[in-house]
Amino acid sequence: MSRLGTDPILSIQDLDVKFTTSEGEVHILRQVSLDIERGSFLCIVGESGCGKSVTVHSVVQLLPENGEITGGRVLFTVDGRDQEISSMSRYGAQIRGIRGARIGMIFQDTMSSLNPAHKVGRQVAENLHQHRKISRREARELVVKMFSRLGIPDAERRVDAYPHEFSGGMRQRVMIAMAMICDPDLLIADEPTTALDVTIQAQIMELLKTLQQEAGKTVVLITHNMGLVSEVADDVAVMYLGRVVEHGSREQVLKNPQHPYTQALLQSVPFMGMDPNVPLRTIAGQTPSPASVTDGCEFAGRCPYVQDRCLTGKIAFRQAADGHVARCVLLDEDGMSECSRRDDARVEDSSGQEART
Ligand SMILES: Nc1ncnc2c1ncn2[C@@H]1O[C@H](COP(=O)(O)OP(=O)(O)O)[C@@H](O)[C@H]1O
Ligand SMILES: [Mg+2]
Repeated sequence: MSRLGTDPILSIQDLDVKFTTSEGEVHILRQVSLDIERGSFLCIVGESGCGKSVTVHSVVQLLPENGEITGGRVLFTVDGRDQEISSMSRYGAQIRGIRGARIGMIFQDTMSSLNPAHKVGRQVAENLHQHRKISRREARELVVKMFSRLGIPDAERRVDAYPHEFSGGMRQRVMIAMAMICDPDLLIADEPTTALDVTIQAQIMELLKTLQQEAGKTVVLITHNMGLVSEVADDVAVMYLGRVVEHGSREQVLKNPQHPYTQALLQSVPFMGMDPNVPLRTIAGQTPSPASVTDGCEFAGRCPYVQDRCLTGKIAFRQAADGHVARCVLLDEDGMSECSRRDDARVEDSSGQEART
């Protein structure tokens, strides 16, 4: 079961991804399920290495050479037509017709995504030429329009500049222009502002939010920044060790987290709207390596509420409320988490001492 949606633009169903490494095959994504509602703004959060990037790369068939989708499927639905991306060949014409055209991607590292030797306008126009029959002049006009729309000043002149002539924030706008130029239905942004300063981060987020609200785009944003999540997300998905462990609306996940990992994650980072009287805590223990995951709940080794039944078998999603699911056995049938009611659990506070909550 994933979160119930009425009109998902993207449906990720029990997705499994494996990588072949020098140490053998490593199972990185395990039954990742996520329905992304058309027109919504979804944030995917979770500690580094939990599989957020691998998930979105799978969605557009951009896994590294040694990675492979080994189970499940990805359905992309536009114009009333389901397209099974997971069964497309990764170098084929079908996925090339979707990637960059119907699904736009924005990545963190703007310097390595832009070619330093070419003018930025030409690089953005390239995407148009790949997907449409269009004259150079028309393409240039569209790029200038897109630059202006995205707040790049003096767009007419700036299309002829080179990447190094742009600031980090402006380069990120160029990347968004590149992702947006073919008017995609879905925009995926993988930590697009991590390298930028706080003011610029806020401007880029505002831009993404405007594209969602005014241009009707669906946005998937991967971020570490819970402050941003609390401002822009409609929905939040929490990943841990190659799995989605919780998914719900922003209110549900941030105000009433059900999975002990989400609870720990929210207690470990400051964000807007949090209770200032609750001290920040670190999550006890280390994220294990994906290779060590076996049966049961992947968070069991670090969970303050662990029980015998967490250690074996398949842990299913349970519904906490309408549209709010978590993969935890402690969620009982009434949809109230036993763990959020328990008050005797031990967690470590940020000084490393054990505290009682
Ligand atoms: N090409 C690769 N080969 C082997 N393992 C990889 C490869 N790319 C990513 N991984 C592993 O997959 C896991 C998830 O990575 P990633 O999706 O990048 O995490 P994040 O949540 O930080 O985006 C990590 O354990 C990472 O080491
Ligand atoms: Mg990543």
